[in-house]
Amino acid sequence: MPDKALEVLGICGSLRKASYNMAALRACTELLPPGMSLRIASIADLPMINQDVLDAGMPAPVKRLRDEIAAADGVLIASPEYNFSVPAPLKNAIDWASRPPNQAFQDKPVAIFSAANGPLGGARVQYDLRKILVQLWAHLLPRPEVFIGMVSTKIDTQGRLTDETTRKFLTDLLAGFKDWILRVQRGKP
Ligand SMILES: Cc1cc2nc3c(=O)[nH]c(=O)nc-3n(C[C@H](O)[C@H](O)[C@H](O)COP(=O)(O)O)c2cc1C
Repeated sequence: MPDKALEVLGICGSLRKASYNMAALRACTELLPPGMSLRIASIADLPMINQDVLDAGMPAPVKRLRDEIAAADGVLIASPEYNFSVPAPLKNAIDWASRPPNQAFQDKPVAIFSAANGPLGGARVQYDLRKILVQLWAHLLPRPEVFIGMVSTKIDTQGRLTDETTRKFLTDLLAGFKDWILRVQRGKP
């Protein structure tokens, strides 16, 4: 009998309806290696992080996201950079997930890619995300790195990722992520 498929949770750093990062994340569902599934989380309904709110009882959307991250074999983050760093909605989601007990990113395999209209493809957000997530004891896939520059030329008006080179980069990222998750699960990151 084949092993259970690895379940990956996708999180997008942009809340924009026509988000290029969300479009690329959706395209990933078509590019998965065998034995891996991808479900995309919603972070739009999270309240702004506030310890007083947490002390009064974990809000339902926060509990849902934390449970989804905890249950996933890995987390795939697609994000633009905002002002050279992490967009507020994504940082907010990570901050909520990070609160003890049972902080959700502990020992979690994570892969990142970014998309933006500039030539760097939002590269700088990736290094800030790595800094944040490593101190939460997440296991960040080191390579391949995928930066989708000039993204508006690669996604059509229906939100489909049409650029074959980018599809190949994401296919390679997902295959590498599968190996990485298995490696972490074997205790050999
Ligand atoms: C508040 C804000 C800050 C931004 N800062 C940057 C930036 O630092 N670098 C960059 O390449 N693009 C920046 N952009 C442009 C975004 O990369 C662009 O809007 C991109 O399409 C957003 O991703 P999305 O399509 O997934 O929403 C910024 C956009 C916003 C709204």
